[in-house]
Amino acid sequence: MPSKVTIIGCGAVGEAIANALVISDEITDLVLSDVVKDKLRGMVLDFQHGQAFHATRVVEAVDWADTANSDVVIITAGVRQREGESRRDLMGRNKSIMEHIVPPMAQHSPNAIVIVVANPCDFMTQLVHKMSGFAEGRVFGSGTFLDSSRLRLELSKKIGVAPESINAYVLGEHGDASVVAVHTATVGCTLLTELVSKEAISESHKAVIGAAGEVIKLRGYTATAIGMAVGKIVEAIVRDKLEIIPLSCPAKGRCGIEHDIYMSLPCIVDRNGVRPWHTVLPPEECKHLQQTAAIMHEASKEVLG
Ligand code: 2OP
Repeated sequence: MPSKVTIIGCGAVGEAIANALVISDEITDLVLSDVVKDKLRGMVLDFQHGQAFHATRVVEAVDWADTANSDVVIITAGVRQREGESRRDLMGRNKSIMEHIVPPMAQHSPNAIVIVVANPCDFMTQLVHKMSGFAEGRVFGSGTFLDSSRLRLELSKKIGVAPESINAYVLGEHGDASVVAVHTATVGCTLLTELVSKEAISESHKAVIGAAGEVIKLRGYTATAIGMAVGKIVEAIVRDKLEIIPLSCPAKGRCGIEHDIYMSLPCIVDRNGVRPWHTVLPPEECKHLQQTAAIMHEASKEVLG
């Protein structure tokens, strides 16, 4: 199926996503858009010089018309965390960037599925969805898909099995108020809690929360892993995979959450976007998510009023 994907914002994260998509060869057309035009042109030329090695056509968005009728739009544009900054610290600056991006994006690709990566991811996802007016399920955030990968890595070191064999989810905020779904986590046919103590799981969760800060301190930014994560999300859409992925979406009414906020919960992904996946968590984990929702609702007032 021909598929056109636009990436809005081609800094390190946008480029990492573009690399993941081109190497997967899952899409036919990739349009790269950025306000820094010379760097964008150089990046596109660099991708085109590799055209003999892959089928995906990579082009530059000279203006919004070049992005028209995209099947998927990925928004990474925005300022990124500096050392010591939290994702929520970016709220105000990235809100104004979204206010410039969303109207022309929605006008040129009215039927697109929109994946929001810019931080703070959950708040930007809710803002972009509200501004776009798109139907439920067509605007969602990469959320804690990356956090869940980081958790599986930490647990794999403790258990001694491959990360992909650990079915464990981080839910809630892509940030400091995330929640590990401990009691539904499994490794093969064994409950995670049979293999690893609650203290060890909590230690792994702490490492996940600190993971981005650790990388930012060492190299200034994160990009590679989020690029792979978004590549997998696009693959699930283009291949109509019906894959269950934790993604940032409307949380009200799920797990007893009463606030109108977005956070990561299990979603099923197909060619139309995302739908909530039936999620039954023990009361203590629902309570933890409700507490996260209250914290995020307070923080969201800055952006959503
Ligand atoms: C990450 O978690 C910074 O949100 C980005 O890598």
